[in-house]
Amino acid sequence: MSGAGDTQAAGLSRRNRKFGWSLFLIGILYGMVLGTFAFNGPLHAPARFADYASLPRRLIRFAHIACMALGLVNVLYGHELERIRLSARMLRIGSNSMILAGVLMPIFLTLAAFQLPWKYGLPIPATAALIAVAILVRGLNQKEGA
Ligand code: HEM
Repeated sequence: MSGAGDTQAAGLSRRNRKFGWSLFLIGILYGMVLGTFAFNGPLHAPARFADYASLPRRLIRFAHIACMALGLVNVLYGHELERIRLSARMLRIGSNSMILAGVLMPIFLTLAAFQLPWKYGLPIPATAALIAVAILVRGLNQKEGA
């Protein structure tokens, strides 16, 4: 890639890194809220989240973890975008898909903790992450073969 391609990749890279660190920040805040009741106080756990092993508690715990993990993955993804050789369109689809995964995964998990049918939305962020990573792996293979 060169010229306009490099500029576009640099812009997308920065966007994924900025989004990733912002999501990580939200994940810390999310974890701090969980921390107010997760270890027997200082606050009382809401009834639906009182049991560590219950489905609602697992869902909010996973939402916190999703913020942390997909935040870091977006940062890594941003760094990789500048190193792979793919069309501008593919780079854009990959970048957008990874951001979509980071937005929707914690949202659907949190909503599902309150209303379980939201769990049926989870394949959307999972598929978005799958697409993003598949594009990245393809780009890495192309670079190695070049
Ligand atoms: C920096 C501030 C953080 C705070 C305040 C925080 C808070 C919490 C709390 C309160 C729990 C327990 C949730 C529960 O009992 O249901 C938890 C679980 C967890 N957190 Fe965090 N967390 C932080 C950072 C992180 C980071 C950086 C990661 C990973 C990169 C992470 C990954 C996890 C995982 C995997 C669990 C589940 C642990 C288990 O079930 O044994 N957290 N966090």
